[in-house]
Amino acid sequence: MCGIVGFTGKQNAAPILLEGLTRLEYRGYDSAGIAVREGDKPPVIVKAKGRLKNLYEKTNDGMAVIGACGIGHTRWATHGEPSENNAHPHCSDDLNVIGVHNGIIESYQQIREKLTRKGYRFHTETDTEALIKYIDYYYKKYNMGPIDAIAKTMVRIRGSYALAVMFRDYPGEIFVARKDSPMILGMEDGEAYLASDVPAILKYTRNVYYIGNMEMARLSPGKITFFNLDGDEIEKEPTLIQWDTEAAEKGGFQHFMMKEIHEEPKAVRDTIHSVCHDGAIDLSAVGLTTEEIRNVDMIHFVACGSAYHVGAAAQYVMEDLARVRVRVELASEFRYRRPILGKNDLVIAVSQSGETADTLAAIREAKAQGIKTLAIVNVVGSTIAREADHVFYTLAGPEISVATTKAYSAQLAAVYLLAVQFALDRGMVDGQTYDKLLGDILRLPEQIEKTLEDKERIQWFAAKFSGAKDIFFLGRGIDYAIALEGSLKMKEISYIHSEAYAAGELKHGTISLIEDGTLVVGVLTQENLYEKMISNLVEVKSRGAYLMGLTSYGNYDIEDTVDFTVYIPKTDPHFTASLAVVPLQLMAYYVSVARGLDVDKPRNLAKSVTVE
Ligand code: AGP
Repeated sequence: MCGIVGFTGKQNAAPILLEGLTRLEYRGYDSAGIAVREGDKPPVIVKAKGRLKNLYEKTNDGMAVIGACGIGHTRWATHGEPSENNAHPHCSDDLNVIGVHNGIIESYQQIREKLTRKGYRFHTETDTEALIKYIDYYYKKYNMGPIDAIAKTMVRIRGSYALAVMFRDYPGEIFVARKDSPMILGMEDGEAYLASDVPAILKYTRNVYYIGNMEMARLSPGKITFFNLDGDEIEKEPTLIQWDTEAAEKGGFQHFMMKEIHEEPKAVRDTIHSVCHDGAIDLSAVGLTTEEIRNVDMIHFVACGSAYHVGAAAQYVMEDLARVRVRVELASEFRYRRPILGKNDLVIAVSQSGETADTLAAIREAKAQGIKTLAIVNVVGSTIAREADHVFYTLAGPEISVATTKAYSAQLAAVYLLAVQFALDRGMVDGQTYDKLLGDILRLPEQIEKTLEDKERIQWFAAKFSGAKDIFFLGRGIDYAIALEGSLKMKEISYIHSEAYAAGELKHGTISLIEDGTLVVGVLTQENLYEKMISNLVEVKSRGAYLMGLTSYGNYDIEDTVDFTVYIPKTDPHFTASLAVVPLQLMAYYVSVARGLDVDKPRNLAKSVTVE
């Protein structure tokens, strides 16, 4: 997820672009750049790695760059390390075309190969450079202007984009195109604006135009013309934005956490599609070969917090599907216990930030023993990503709220894909089962979307228990891993004491804590353990517990036992964590809001724990 901005009018563009990018930093912040044109002079391009302040410094707050037409970009790397060279804008070598892009061009390798054969050279690792040069190619080949060149490119690429482009032959004008990635346009007092999101232009205009999917537009000072894919002009009416800036940065949600929960379908979809092409999983970008997969003796997941809970779920999924031995460990324990690792073991580190000190130390311990390492991380170029032998990037985009939600869900998708590919490569499943499992994974984003429809009921229930002293989460198998995450979400943002327990273990002591009215949340998505779980819930109910049941549609008999039920769509039992976690995230969120707490910045916590 990146942020793009654009402006054309009477004022100097650079300060406006920088202000807009500042409002979009929550969309990405590992590098940034602007391109500004003064009349028909060539564009001045300035880029900087790191936070936006570096670009401010390089442009003397925008005052050193003259011109009334420009585009800008703040990056969240998906293809290519964070660097000045990979920062946007990207351009054709002759500066005929220059542009910025938010999205993922899945077919960028094929585009690079085709254009290389046509004599193009590439100087960055980005998909965006390929996209811009593809537009340049069609602009020169057909010589029918920018809209035609962009349209011809759009019908030949696979992926998502919010794209803003300047052409040498069209000074003072910006051309845009959109598919799946967000973009809004604005106009005020003879000047035109574009941005990934409303906050970037709210200071200048509240008259916003929403460009549709597969549509294009031409921005000139005080005029915006919209086009469909055939190049025909289309009319659009402006929308008056009522939001204030802060609300707009959260997409209209009250907190980043709720916004990011709603981004889970896209985070999971993008992560799946990063390795899933034409009905098969392709781990070549991860760098794991079939032979390496076959030779793995044992897998050790090492992580902290919610990432550890991904490992806990992965242990069940990987062992059951791929029949490979899996151990999951807290990274903070792994690094000090002098682990005994086999030479053909694989250590998998899971980390949203890629900077967690304990997890980094665990990776280094494994490498010190000569063991192959794989990192599942959300931040391109992060320390853990750079030090691991292999990297599987999740494409959740920047996660602002301290409590992880969409990154956790994207990590789950990554381990499912690894498990299914391991199972196939190690001969544990046939092609038909592989296809069925992959089909279930591909359906998860829409099913996650469906779980969000229940949020009003969950909000009502959460408000009833916002005064609770203790909340227990019970589960067996993968449901225990889900319970672990549900309990942590509740603790870290509501400050209510909570414990997750393997339901079969409760009777060995902890059940003594169950009193009249104690809230117990039972997670029952594993059909083979369902009856056992019901028995455990009856046990705690007989001691006065108030029961919430979380299970799949169809298990309606649960209502004979529990006091409140939340249902999730049916999926393969290996993948239920992706669906069951959403009601638990929502429940923790609503309890925290009911308690008037700072949901996005809970006390004592940091988004990335880079110290021991
Ligand atoms: C989860 O909501 C917490 N923010 C925390 O447990 C987090 O998962 C843990 O610190 C690991 O962080 P990482 O994924 O960036 O390594």
